[in-house]
Amino acid sequence: MKQNNNNNTDKIKKYIVQTYGCQMNEHDSEKISWILEAMGYVLTDDIKECDLIIYNTCAVRKSAEDKVFGKLGELKQEKRKNPDLILAVCGCMMQRQEVVDIITSKYRQVDIIFGTNNIHKLPELVNTHLNTGKTIIDIVEDTKQINENIDANRKYDFKAFVNIMHGCNNFCTYCIVPFTRGREVSRAPQNILEEIKGLADNGCKEVTLLGQNVNSYGKTLEKKYSFPDLLRDINQIDGIERIRFMTSHPKDISDELIDSYGKLDKLCNHLHLPVQSGSNKVLNLMNRKYTKEDYLNVIDKIRKINPDISITTDIIVGFPGEKEEDFEETLNLVKKVKFDSAYTFLYSIREGTPAAKMEDQIPDKIKHNRFQKLLDVLHEIGLKENESLLNKEVSVLVEEISKNHEDTLSGRTSSGKLVHFKGSKRLIGNIVNVKVDNVNTFTLEGTVI
Ligand code: 5AD
Ligand code: SF4
Repeated sequence: MKQNNNNNTDKIKKYIVQTYGCQMNEHDSEKISWILEAMGYVLTDDIKECDLIIYNTCAVRKSAEDKVFGKLGELKQEKRKNPDLILAVCGCMMQRQEVVDIITSKYRQVDIIFGTNNIHKLPELVNTHLNTGKTIIDIVEDTKQINENIDANRKYDFKAFVNIMHGCNNFCTYCIVPFTRGREVSRAPQNILEEIKGLADNGCKEVTLLGQNVNSYGKTLEKKYSFPDLLRDINQIDGIERIRFMTSHPKDISDELIDSYGKLDKLCNHLHLPVQSGSNKVLNLMNRKYTKEDYLNVIDKIRKINPDISITTDIIVGFPGEKEEDFEETLNLVKKVKFDSAYTFLYSIREGTPAAKMEDQIPDKIKHNRFQKLLDVLHEIGLKENESLLNKEVSVLVEEISKNHEDTLSGRTSSGKLVHFKGSKRLIGNIVNVKVDNVNTFTLEGTVI
């Protein structure tokens, strides 16, 4: 049994939360930090003085999982040096029984394993472990009821992630998320609006609404209330100046949502709309439920309303059955849409998903070749899109001192582009106008005006 430091007022307990994966996970980690700090833990970045390490994991690709196993292996040493250290793992990987089996058999240094649906139980899990000395495993399959009693320790005051829904019902054939995050559940609008009002009262200017498929927000609510309704109501909250959201599914994007871009002044000049592939054959195999033509049609409609909107996407390369001509169709679609940027992924087999069993898996060498070709095209287009901003004025929410230069600030435009410029750090948290003097593939440089 370990010393129960919880009742020991002499020693301040310290924690580290290491996050892998998407914004949803980042926000879950902010909630975990809030819970731990309510328990009296204090954040540290020094593993030597740490009492509790939590790994919040991602299961979307095998490489992300391998990274976590590598890190857990390294922590065996730390545990040997400090046997009182509590090691906990949570997040999407833990919703997979195979992973839990591997951890309990090969990574015995892990003390607590919990899933994506029971973060709120963390205090109980830590205490049970401290009182029994046993490995505690607590996984819940689905979110039946959303726990509204946990807050989040957010990194910034001026911008915040806000969950609007949990889970996913889409079952794209490559994706593990519907198995790890369970079925779709929408948060009640009044809870979301209250949370955002509270954030605005504390100086928050920008909210990013999070859900696996925000376009189907509201489907599980008793009253008829859609995602555009939610956007309209958030747009009225004093103090909030920018609204973003992640992620939209092209099959569910409504004309009402597209119209919101013409009506709501706070909606950011950006749409992230994952296309995944430009080949109708591959889209069908992926169970995406739209065609390349449907996708292009949405882009046309939205550009008619807002010609300057920045469009970003997710693309998977090397999905089973993807022939050279299918890949060419993806390249053609990229050139047609002129994406501002894209998250690109090599298809990764996820056991338990339908695509894992498909014939005609693509050899790694071909996947890597196509991946590089795609990047070359995306980068050329991204640079051209950025060049169109040269000498123009953009509004920037100033976020922090640049990582590389102490006298340089960085922030994001409404369209989501990263901008570097000289200025006083007192500007952090404000929205300023910047003239774009120089552009690169991924960033803009400018001068405050
Ligand atoms: N292999 C590669 N990429 C994947 N994604 C989801 N599952 C896989 C997989 N098995 C990508 C999709 C999705 C993004 C979050 O991750 O592009 O939009
Ligand atoms: Fe995965 Fe598809 Fe759901 Fe996105 S919409 S989380 S890609 S199943």
